[in-house]
Amino acid sequence: MTVPADFNFVHPAHYAEHGYPHELWTRLRKEEPVHWFDRTEGIPFWAVTKYEDIVTVGRHPNDFQSGPRLVIQHKDENPDDFPPTLIQLDPPKHGIYRKLINKRFTPGRLRPWHHEIEVIAREIVDALVEESDEGECDFVEKVSAPLPIAVIAWLLGVPKADWNLLFDWTNRIIGAEDPDFQVEGKTSAEAAMETMTELFMYFTDLVKEKKKNPSDDLTSMFSSLEVDGKPLPEMDILTFCLIIVVAGNETTRNATSGGMLALIQHQDQLRKLQADPSLIPSAVEEIIRWTSPIIHFGRTASRDFKLRDKTIKAGEALALFYPSANRDEDVFEDPFSFRVDRSPNPHLAFGTGEHFCLGAHVARLEMEFAYRHLLPRIAEIELTGPVDRLHSALVGGMKHLPIRYKLKRSNVAA
Ligand code: HEM
Repeated sequence: MTVPADFNFVHPAHYAEHGYPHELWTRLRKEEPVHWFDRTEGIPFWAVTKYEDIVTVGRHPNDFQSGPRLVIQHKDENPDDFPPTLIQLDPPKHGIYRKLINKRFTPGRLRPWHHEIEVIAREIVDALVEESDEGECDFVEKVSAPLPIAVIAWLLGVPKADWNLLFDWTNRIIGAEDPDFQVEGKTSAEAAMETMTELFMYFTDLVKEKKKNPSDDLTSMFSSLEVDGKPLPEMDILTFCLIIVVAGNETTRNATSGGMLALIQHQDQLRKLQADPSLIPSAVEEIIRWTSPIIHFGRTASRDFKLRDKTIKAGEALALFYPSANRDEDVFEDPFSFRVDRSPNPHLAFGTGEHFCLGAHVARLEMEFAYRHLLPRIAEIELTGPVDRLHSALVGGMKHLPIRYKLKRSNVAA
């Protein structure tokens, strides 16, 4: 199938200017679901757009590895000097490391933390709605940006005074390609590397502190882990902290903003949700499917593998396009309709296989609590300007979501 000459699947500018290329992905799913793309200044790769194929790749972690290249760049890659985090590990090390921390993220183990996550979400929503009964704001700035970083900082035991530091560092790492985050005189890779170093230094001190004074937070838990009876090397403790900060922030932020946008654009669904708040969990799931904030993750074949009619050769790269899988007509009924009561909803926005998102339940809780406190208060809500999209082929989302709202004062959540 011919892909338009001006289109590059992994070019950040495309996503900033046009959003997700759903029309093209839909054609690819029909005509050439495993498509070789070599019109790029970076490495060529197979674009994988169908649900079933992404699941197949996820089921074969030995054959499709995360290690060498988790994100496919649009131009020559810079060598990655940083030690790999959990998400870049491959079997057998990945399984061993994941098992060390997995239990802490299950719904049952997260239950004691619900209250605090709800308090954080509620305070953020209160700060917005208590300003006035009606007004205008940037929803990203007021709600969806502060929410995940506050929750992650709290989970990691970062003192409140430093939450803004974390927020700024993660913006700079994930949005490294975005013109808004460019640092004069530095390439985006250099700037991202510098930020990672600052983050590492910060957590080096925090780990020291938590080893001396442990408490019930993730940094203390990571600092006390052992493998084969020996304490985890310092670098591995740090990379655990780092992946939580990086993976849990921009993703949830963009799902939360994308959800608000979807509800504004589908007012019937907003009203349905307001009328029946028991739909909030399924609405959150639908929002995550609909927004699919991770655009792609990469894999590298470690042996020749036949995927449909194509042979992926050992050493070749693949890009797994989750938002495309989440509109797959063979899996989802009417995939382009946004339905807050969609069930079942087996979306792949959190990935699939052994790298399935560790923080999926944390993300769900944050969004559920935020919408639970916000939606009953809204009488009217609309967009007041264009959505300013992020310049990234990894995380799809928006930098600003300008809205105007009117509140139902009588219906303030108790
Ligand atoms: C809506 C929000 C989120 C989305 C869409 C999302 C998406 C993903 C995806 C697609 C993967 C799979 C990576 C792969 O297969 O290579 C993943 C892995 C991961 N996510 Fe999330 N994520 C979200 C929120 C979070 C949160 C809140 C945290 C932390 C609290 C988190 C931590 C992680 C970690 C640590 C991994 C790596 C797991 C592993 O390699 O075993 N994520 N996420």
